[in-house]
Amino acid sequence: MTTLAVDIRQISPQTDARSSAGTIHDLAHSPHSTAADFAAAPLPGSMKAIVLLRKDETKLRSIPIEQRDLRKSLHHADVTVPEPDGGEVLVAVMAASLNFNGVWSALHEPMSPFHYLSQFARLEPGNAKHNLDYQIIGSDAAGIVVRVGAGVTNCRPGDRVVIHPGVVSGVSVTAYHDAVQDESCRAWGFETNFGALAEFCLVRANQIMPKPAHLTWEEAASLPLVNETVYRMLISQNGARMRLGESVLIWGATGGLGSLAIQYALRAGAWPIAVVSSPDKAALVRRLGCEAVIDRSAEGYVFIKADGQPNLRDLVRFRKKVQSLNGGRDPEIVFEHTGRETFAASVFVAAHGGRVVTCGSTTGYSHQYDNRYLWMHVKSIIGSHGATYHEAWKANDLVCKGLIHPVLSETYPLERAARGIERMRQNRHVGKIGVLCLADRAGLGVEDSAMRQRVGEDHLSLFQGGIPT
Ligand SMILES: NC(=O)c1ccc[n+]([C@@H]2O[C@H](COP(=O)([O-])OP(=O)(O)OC[C@H]3O[C@@H](n4cnc5c(N)ncnc54)[C@H](OP(=O)(O)O)[C@@H]3O)[C@@H](O)[C@H]2O)c1
Repeated sequence: MTTLAVDIRQISPQTDARSSAGTIHDLAHSPHSTAADFAAAPLPGSMKAIVLLRKDETKLRSIPIEQRDLRKSLHHADVTVPEPDGGEVLVAVMAASLNFNGVWSALHEPMSPFHYLSQFARLEPGNAKHNLDYQIIGSDAAGIVVRVGAGVTNCRPGDRVVIHPGVVSGVSVTAYHDAVQDESCRAWGFETNFGALAEFCLVRANQIMPKPAHLTWEEAASLPLVNETVYRMLISQNGARMRLGESVLIWGATGGLGSLAIQYALRAGAWPIAVVSSPDKAALVRRLGCEAVIDRSAEGYVFIKADGQPNLRDLVRFRKKVQSLNGGRDPEIVFEHTGRETFAASVFVAAHGGRVVTCGSTTGYSHQYDNRYLWMHVKSIIGSHGATYHEAWKANDLVCKGLIHPVLSETYPLERAARGIERMRQNRHVGKIGVLCLADRAGLGVEDSAMRQRVGEDHLSLFQGGIPT
């Protein structure tokens, strides 16, 4: 079994960032490297990674959640490079990106990450190697295939890829129908080990997708998780099935999911109504092309009162505001992920017969809402989680065609990933945060510059630099 090397250091700006990946690092930075070069290159024994430690578990969970310091639970460490078994692929991670699940992981909420690992280990004998005393987290990566296990035919060393973060065994009847509904379905780098925030990551062959050739490593890494989640929520037959001319209320419209949801609504000929929390964010969402914008902070909405009950006065006020931006009508779709503080409003403002589609609960997962507004107006709530490989592939294809764009705002070196995760926790970021793993600097990895020129730098850098905080 692999063991944690002795060098476990807490993340700090002073930490040594040099790569331990040797030859693979050099090949990845040379335009002349061939598939044979990658296949023949020696792998290092250890690599740098961002890990959670089992030994932190008891102490951390004894601290109230709001007082937990996630910089103390995230460690920049040297760990063993994993080996691919049958059906698996080892990828040299050029860049990764952060997702809100990194905040949950670092807080050890809503459940212990090591509980997830032991659950995953029990699913199939091959998963036992995931159940270690450390977990490499991270669910988005772009990189180069360096080794494939027995039976892998869909990729080979040297391929430039992005990773679909859904892990599913793929052998049950349910998995063939809708992998997300299969009980084996897990979020890679959240409920499994060997995730993206490392110099190498380990995935199943059916997580591999082609890297969009016009994007840099960090741009490519910023998309798969949010892109495919939004695709399922809004477009696919498993979600809200958004149609031409429908209106969609989108919470957190400059966040990772929200900024993609705005793009999908505009592309599909729907009418997005964005909710944000500052004038700077309102300006940013207008740059995406969205005309109808509500600044929830300026309006001072409080949808849930101190006693936990919905606040009808502000629900009515909010509904009128939404209608004023939507030709006097209620939105057919509400795009939800914000949870406790917004859910009552989402159910209240959705149109008669409308759909509230939800994939998360950033502000708390115990929701209060008045159910009369749901059943009397025949609205529905659609739960959504991740995406199937097919949905992920379709969503990635839209990026490859230059129809959906990255919303990268800032990029950190691997050893400073905790700072980015802390910014997400505090809601001080916009769009997506990139992390450089093996890539020496930002801006590398573009293979098709003609395509990049056609798409236009303007479209690719809309969120670059974020907003002043
Ligand atoms: N199940 C899945 O497959 C899946 C996939 C991806 C994400 N998620 C979940 O979805 C959530 C959002 O993910 P993300 O990547 O978009 O996160 P994000 O980048 O942090 O964006 C979240 C947005 O929520 C808004 N927000 C925060 N507090 C709010 C409040 N009190 N009221 C209204 N809006 C509030 C913020 O916008 P403003 O402050 O501007 O309003 C922020 O931009 C997370 O909980 C994540 O875990 C689930």
